[in-house]
Amino acid sequence: MMASAAKSTLTGWLGAILALTASACKPQAGYPLDTLAPTSDLTKSLYDLFVEVTVLDVIVLIVVVGALFFAMLVFSTRTGGRREPSVKHSDMYLEMAWTIIPALILLAITVPTVRVIIKTQPYTWPRDTLPVEVIAHQWWWEFHYPTLGVETADEVHIPTGQTIHFELFSKDVIHSFFMPQVGGKRDVIPGQENQITLVANVPGEYYGQCTEFCGDSHANMRFRVFVQTPTDFQQWVQHQLQPPVKPVAGAAVAGAKIFADAPCAICHTIQGVSGFSKEYTYGFRGPDLTHFGSRRTLAGSIMDNTPQNVALWIRNPDAVKPGANMPTLGLSGDDMNNLVAYLESLK
Ligand code: CUA
Repeated sequence: MMASAAKSTLTGWLGAILALTASACKPQAGYPLDTLAPTSDLTKSLYDLFVEVTVLDVIVLIVVVGALFFAMLVFSTRTGGRREPSVKHSDMYLEMAWTIIPALILLAITVPTVRVIIKTQPYTWPRDTLPVEVIAHQWWWEFHYPTLGVETADEVHIPTGQTIHFELFSKDVIHSFFMPQVGGKRDVIPGQENQITLVANVPGEYYGQCTEFCGDSHANMRFRVFVQTPTDFQQWVQHQLQPPVKPVAGAAVAGAKIFADAPCAICHTIQGVSGFSKEYTYGFRGPDLTHFGSRRTLAGSIMDNTPQNVALWIRNPDAVKPGANMPTLGLSGDDMNNLVAYLESLK
């Protein structure tokens, strides 16, 4: 009676665990930070390692739990009269077994793990890599392409089929660069250069997120990775190298004047309009806005780039992203509409 109740409880639990595992492993289009949907050689290596270790762990779990329940079910009732258990101070074979078997299990996990670490963090990088400097700020991401002369913010574009070498720097505190489907995760530490190297192979738009607590708006420090075919990427680069088209009529003309007169130009670069030299590295600097109108998102990628959201952000940045360095400008009415029209014109 007791044995059959225990058996049905066990079956119930195993069923629940299997159902949970199956649902967790299904690819989820609705979860952009899904770590089980690799799209590069790096994330594929991490995923394969995860599967390898998980399978091994599940086998160990089944053996241990199976042995436990076997003992519980088989030896739960005693036949014959009461008698003292035998006293045994040591059993060399048993002790050897529980030393050697765990050591072999650890070895089976360590060898593939170290292999992946060595493979994904080589000491020297291939020559034909595309370097991308990632500079973390509280709370946004700056991206430089030193060999292409391109600069962008919160949205990074990379081509498929080419080795990308992300060089990670921080301007202030420790951040963590996490793009689960494309490139894993690595800390971004002031005074130290960390790196991620990968070859992306599935074009698409992917989510990224800072994953090291870095202050008030840590959760608002997101970014997007746009993986493009080499042709699309070249087109994007050529477009980024052009200065934005100067507005000649409409609200954007008035907006350009507001941009120049308001404090915006002190912190934000717009090619041909305002800006720091590339070598400028001191003091505060806001995102480069040269092609702001062509970006999908704004403010640390927390909002879609729509005129309403741009106005919402400029009206009170601190309400949208607590602690943001962007000041409140006190713009409203036509001034606000004109400035927004100008920023959105920067395609
Ligand atoms: Cu940057 Cu958290």
